[in-house]
Amino acid sequence: MPEISVDRLSQTFGSTRVLDEVSFTVPDGRFVTLLGPSGCGKTTTLMSIAGFHTPQGGAIAHGDHILFDAARRRNVPAEQRELGVVFQSYALWPHLTIEQNVGFPLRIRRTDRAETRRRVAEVLDLVELGHRAKAHPHELSGGQQQRVALARALAHGPSALLLDEPFSNLDAKLRERAREWLGELQRDLGISTVFVTHDQTEAMAMSDQILVMNGGRIVRSGTPQEVYHRPGSRFVAEFLGRCNFLTGTARRTGPGAFALEAPGLPGGVPFRADTAPPPGAVTLAVRPEALTLHTDETRPGWRARVTRTTFLGDHYLHTLQLGPHILQALGTRHLTTPAVLVDLDAGAATVVTDDPAPDDTAPHDAAPSGLADTGPVPAEPGPPEPSTTSRAV
Ligand SMILES: Nc1ncnc2c1ncn2[C@@H]1O[C@H](COP(=O)(O)OP(=O)(O)OP(=O)(O)O)[C@@H](O)[C@H]1O
Ligand SMILES: [Mg+2]
Repeated sequence: MPEISVDRLSQTFGSTRVLDEVSFTVPDGRFVTLLGPSGCGKTTTLMSIAGFHTPQGGAIAHGDHILFDAARRRNVPAEQRELGVVFQSYALWPHLTIEQNVGFPLRIRRTDRAETRRRVAEVLDLVELGHRAKAHPHELSGGQQQRVALARALAHGPSALLLDEPFSNLDAKLRERAREWLGELQRDLGISTVFVTHDQTEAMAMSDQILVMNGGRIVRSGTPQEVYHRPGSRFVAEFLGRCNFLTGTARRTGPGAFALEAPGLPGGVPFRADTAPPPGAVTLAVRPEALTLHTDETRPGWRARVTRTTFLGDHYLHTLQLGPHILQALGTRHLTTPAVLVDLDAGAATVVTDDPAPDDTAPHDAAPSGLADTGPVPAEPGPPEPSTTSRAV
């Protein structure tokens, strides 16, 4: 199946730029996630690919097929894009049965009745809802409705899937099951998928690649491990989970090796960097699980005091006072003494940039001249109306 390429999408609403040169590629058969806080432009990006939103600038291709090109005024209608879409709201029609909802994309493509019946039965089996074909959406739980929305997205045999927070209404346990189920389905079908979420655990569990968005821009991309362990900026480090930050000055200790000098950390905090950090203050990100607490005076460690311990079920979260620094560390044991030594896993500290001023990270005012020449492109059909009758799972 061909790759999807998104090239410099831009969109301004009023004076707010919500897509700022968004570019990325979804390689064949891969699972790529747009991850970011509410309002950062995830749905606008996804709906642009789906054809339910027409951005003001940029281009979108699916293999050799140009779906959208603002400069050339090309805009393929949504129903001709051969993509399967699951909307943030599921968007099931409450007055149609499950099989009628799922068969809808086939109906608008004028697929004959026998083939429609066969396909609907096949995808409902795939999502394990064949036995509810005659039910209406309000008779199904939220989780089941999300599976119906997925079946509908798959019904016409799309060559890519676009999923907008498809598990948003599930409780934690069901979400985990749905994740595993969708991951297996996606791998079995080998279908290129763009997944949208603001849940970092979900993104890390499911994705081949994560694109972290903020203020209409992609600010970091890579495998889950890359973005988690090498976030590059404070924003990404914090968005992907708990993180400590240590600020000081860098001293070179060898080729590509440095130590961060800061009060309370005798000997410095070792870190590696391909290029020397710029002179002045340097900030390191250190994940709480990279800190080991012990009381063995013969082993290395910085002296610290545990000021608070929170029991989180499968682990403890310790708050430490280390010189002037307040740090968090994860542990599996309750500590018997507040005086501890803190050791750091080799290679765990990484340099992060301070994020730009809030004005730069929030959706920001656009330069009107930059977008003036793209002009309007043909109108697109809207997504179906959402079902308002879902009941709790
Ligand atoms: N039709 C519209 N008119 C004006 N502003 C809009 C429109 N659609 C989206 N926006 C604004 O664009 C920004 C990005 O919206 P978008 O729906 O893409 O965010 P999101 O990342 O999907 O957020 P969420 O996680 O809350 O779903 C928001 O500030 C939103 O208010
Ligand atoms: Mg959204």
